Amino acid sequence: MKNIKAIIFDAYGTLFDVNSAAEKCKDKIGDKWEPFANYWRTTQLEYTWLRSLMKRHKDFWQITEDSLDKSMMAFNIDIQMKDELLNLYKVLSPFQEVPETLKSLKEKNFKLAILSNGTPSLLNELVKSNNLNNLFDDIFSIEKVGIYKPHSKVYDLPIEKYKIKKNEVAFLSANTWDVSGAGNYGYQSVWVNRNNNIFDNLDYKPNNKIMNLLELIDII
Ligand code: LAC
Repeated sequence: MKNIKAIIFDAYGTLFDVNSAAEKCKDKIGDKWEPFANYWRTTQLEYTWLRSLMKRHKDFWQITEDSLDKSMMAFNIDIQMKDELLNLYKVLSPFQEVPETLKSLKEKNFKLAILSNGTPSLLNELVKSNNLNNLFDDIFSIEKVGIYKPHSKVYDLPIEKYKIKKNEVAFLSANTWDVSGAGNYGYQSVWVNRNNNIFDNLDYKPNNKIMNLLELIDII
């Protein structure tokens, strides 16, 4: 990748493991913890897209709770677990290689930022609870524009702040639809494909694919 001035990361699913909340309750939830976690995540994302299309915005924390309610009913999970799952979602674990990758990129003097659907307070807490708060120059939240990814107004946020060109941004996401959104917008996108998934057919294919964030250091 050439001429990169800022490295921007998606948060949920890319830096932080969205399934880690349900995984930490697997003794209580049993074997269905993983399909339940996937269903919760899918429902949460569907609600972001549907609310954007309906122009009925609710913030990401409310959407996370609404989608959890539906998912707990779908998987017959005891309602008593709701608060525990929500509290764990506030302190999701980062993927293993995240802290060392960020430290190494910071030493190379790149601007580092998060661009996420999360609310500013959720993202700040998440970063702080994992001791990553000193590594980011900025945390951009969609709350500033009141519409979810992949709306172009969201991807505008770092461009407006840094006054750089779209193709001077390296944007990393593990969410294929977010890579498509950012790539169609004009960022140099990197797909973090940890689980050997299949990419979307949405008019864009990423030039850069990595299996984990550490691999970014070799291509940046
Ligand atoms: C985010 C969603 C895409 O962090 O996971 O924006």
